[in-house]
Amino acid sequence: MVSRYHTPVLTWIHSAANAELEFSYLPFINYHLPSHFMRRAIYPGSFDPVTNGHLDIIQRGCKLFDEIIVAVLVNPEKTAFFTIEERCDILSEVLKTIDRGDCHVIVEGFEGLMVQYAAEREANAIVRGIRAISDYEYELQMALMNRRLRPSLETVFMMPAEEYSYVSSRLVKEVFQLGAGIDGLVPPLVEQRMREKIK
Ligand code: PNS
Repeated sequence: MVSRYHTPVLTWIHSAANAELEFSYLPFINYHLPSHFMRRAIYPGSFDPVTNGHLDIIQRGCKLFDEIIVAVLVNPEKTAFFTIEERCDILSEVLKTIDRGDCHVIVEGFEGLMVQYAAEREANAIVRGIRAISDYEYELQMALMNRRLRPSLETVFMMPAEEYSYVSSRLVKEVFQLGAGIDGLVPPLVEQRMREKIK
């Protein structure tokens, strides 16, 4: 008997023995989730600092997943403004202020390989935001590398609202450090913590 956790592949195989048509089945047991299964996603990033664009993606992810772990990770290519602990603390505070529906959202910091962390947390998916085509090349490379490292983990790309399509942590830090206001780009708590940090 074919398990209900196996997905039929739409390929008919002609059986030489009895000349009947049969379905072939691939063992998708590792991929197909029963409907009662908790759908848990990792939303990894530097979040240095969290922007309104990140929060927008988290809210959109809340429509798809039962649990989202916002994972503050180290990007070796970036110089940090806040420590991982500070970023986690800020994220935890601002997440209390947004509507998350029934989704359970938690924040954790991790130093190491993202797919290893996702495996430890038994996550089914990685969520990443894509603002413009320029993000796509980098994101595709990461998604494919992560797929190579852990094939059962799917990457889901989500688009933020148009008004955040130009907002990045890098530009927020740059304009802030040059004295410009960042109101509307980040939650007020982030601006306050940034001011305290440079005192
Ligand atoms: O917000 P960012 O800086 O674009 O996020 C990039 C991040 C932190 C998700 C990426 O650098 C990462 O996954 N770092 C953890 C180390 C790792 O797994 N590197 C391999 C990525 S294919």
